[in-house]
Amino acid sequence: MEEKLNKIKQDAIERINSSKLLDEIEEIRVNILGRKGLLTQILRSLGELAPELRNTIGKKSNEIKKIIEDAIDSKKSELAKSGFSEIASNEWIDVTLNPETSIREIKSGFLHPISKTQYEIEDILTSMGFQILDGPEPETEYYNFEALNIPKFHPARDLQDTFWTEDGNLMRTHTSAIQIRGMEKMTPPFRIMAPGRVFRYEATDASHEHTFYQVEGMMVDKDISVSHLIYVMEQVLKGIFKREIKVRLRPAYYPFVEPGFDLDFNCMICEGKGCRVCKHTGWIEFLGCGLVHPNVLRAGNIDPEIWSGFAFGMGLNRLIMMQNGINDIRHFMSGDIRFIHQF
Ligand code: DAH
Repeated sequence: MEEKLNKIKQDAIERINSSKLLDEIEEIRVNILGRKGLLTQILRSLGELAPELRNTIGKKSNEIKKIIEDAIDSKKSELAKSGFSEIASNEWIDVTLNPETSIREIKSGFLHPISKTQYEIEDILTSMGFQILDGPEPETEYYNFEALNIPKFHPARDLQDTFWTEDGNLMRTHTSAIQIRGMEKMTPPFRIMAPGRVFRYEATDASHEHTFYQVEGMMVDKDISVSHLIYVMEQVLKGIFKREIKVRLRPAYYPFVEPGFDLDFNCMICEGKGCRVCKHTGWIEFLGCGLVHPNVLRAGNIDPEIWSGFAFGMGLNRLIMMQNGINDIRHFMSGDIRFIHQF
């Protein structure tokens, strides 16, 4: 009997030590100490033993029971601990970290200020019936100059020197080239607008850049006059600045319009009194415009005896600089993320 007890103890301890799961331990416990367990049966049958054996076997059985119970308890807590440490090493989170500073902020994207203003102007003009056109950045001499009434040796070409390709094409110096492409496609009456990137061979400084953005507009109909032009320009400015804006025209020379103007708007920083932004004139230069030159209409296969039109071309960079107090046009092309993140 004693041998049997020793065997039970030995087997139990071996199995307990080698087990890796809490379920296994529980199974061992049930097998030995459970209601029908090996040791339980022995303890229950003590009464059948001879009195002298009953004592020693009883004592021994209880000792073994205690040893096995202890072994089960310590193995259980060992397994529980290693289970925690496994979870801790695989799935840890550092609860002491400050979420304000340590968790990366999720940044959503946003529009570049140029795109934002461009889309605003597109919305305003399309709401007045202007159709949006696109054109190529590399242009032919014909579309960029010739058809816009700027012949080969005309001095106006010098004002807009640019980057030429070896096969005689150029990077467009203005979006006005799209006027011609537009007229070729459309039949009057029509209203078109064309946003885009343009290029100049410039000595760059705080207010000059070799690559910048313009929006071109053109309306062709019967009996178009300067008052139509002024009205549309006032609507564009009102849409951008969300308030009533005064404009004025100054005569200016652009070969593709006659008469041609520079259009200024009333400086809203000083309300026209004069400040640094408007160079103490009370007015801010906004865009070039005028009534489309008959030669340009003809280049677009439109009869100037029947049709007339106005056109305008505005630079986006300066407008955005004024809106946001940006003091150097070169920021736009700098690729400096700190600049972009301010908008
Ligand atoms: N293309 C001119 C420039 O880049 C701007 C301009 C002036 C466009 C008069 C026009 C216009 O359509 O009528 O300086």
